[in-house]
Amino acid sequence: MSYHVGRLTADEVRGMFDRIAPVYDVMNRVMTAGLDRRWRRLAVREVVWPGDRVLDACCGTGDLAVEAERRGGRVVGLDFSSRMLARARSKSGTIEWVQGDALALPFEAGEFDAATVGFGVRNLEDLEAGLRELVRVLRSGGKVAVLEITRPRGILRPFFRLWFDVLVPLAGKVLPGGKAYTYLPASVRRFPGPDDLSALMARAGFQDVRYRLLGGGTVALHVATVGARLASPGATQASALRIEGNIGGVEA
Ligand SMILES: C[S@@+](CC[C@H](N)C(=O)[O-])C[C@H]1O[C@@H](n2cnc3c(N)ncnc32)[C@H](O)[C@@H]1O
Repeated sequence: MSYHVGRLTADEVRGMFDRIAPVYDVMNRVMTAGLDRRWRRLAVREVVWPGDRVLDACCGTGDLAVEAERRGGRVVGLDFSSRMLARARSKSGTIEWVQGDALALPFEAGEFDAATVGFGVRNLEDLEAGLRELVRVLRSGGKVAVLEITRPRGILRPFFRLWFDVLVPLAGKVLPGGKAYTYLPASVRRFPGPDDLSALMARAGFQDVRYRLLGGGTVALHVATVGARLASPGATQASALRIEGNIGGVEA
C-alpha cells in the first residue's frame, strides 16, 4: 500500500482524511473551480425525491448530504473519519451523522430509498464489497448516484495531467496531510474508468446503470437502480447485467 500507487489500507485512508479535514472544503473548491457544487446538485436531482430516506455514504465534510437534505430528503451521512464528520456536523443539525464503515454499513437491508457517494468509492479498500453494501441497504427500486473523478480523453487530457499530476501534488507539499495530494492523482490513475465502473456496479446487483461525464470529462456521474429482489441470487445477477452506458455528452 502506498500513496504513490494510489492504494492505501482503510486505516491509512481514515488517517489521511482526518489530517486533511481542515483544508478539504477549500481544496475541493479550488481544484474544481467551484464546479463541485453543480455536480453535487446534479447527482442529488437524479436520485432524491422529497421525503426519501437517503444515505450519503463516505459523506466526508457533508456537502452532498446537505444538498440531499435541501432537496427534501431525510438524510443519514456516514463516514469513518471523525474529523471529516466533525466538519459535516457543523453544516446541519438535522442530518443524522454516523461514524461507520461503508464496507459494513450499520443499517438494515432495504432501509433507504436512495444513496449517494461523492468521490468516495475510489477510496474503498474493497470497491466491489462497498457496491454490494449499497445494493443491500437500498429498497427494491431504490437509486444510487456515484460521483467520481475520471481521466478525460481528448484535448483536455494534457491540461488535466499538468493540473492533477503535477500542480496538485505540488500544492500538497505546503498543506497539512500533503501526501494526500500525491495519493489523489495516483488513485484516479488506478481506478476503473466509467465503463468498467458501470460493469462493476451491474455485477454488484445494480440495474440500468448509466453515466454522464461532467467537468469536461474529468468527473463521471453514475446512476443506477436496485431491481426487484428475487429469491435466487443468480437470477438477480443475470437481470442486473444490463448496462445502459454513457447517456450524455460531456458537460461542465
Ligand atoms: C474524497 S472524500 C469525499 C467526501 C464527500 N463525499 C465529498 O463529496 O466531498 C472521501 C471520504 O470517504 C471516506 N471513506 C473512505 N473509505 C471509507 C469507508 N470504508 N467507510 C466510511 N468512510 C470512508 C473518507 O473518510 C472521506 O471522508
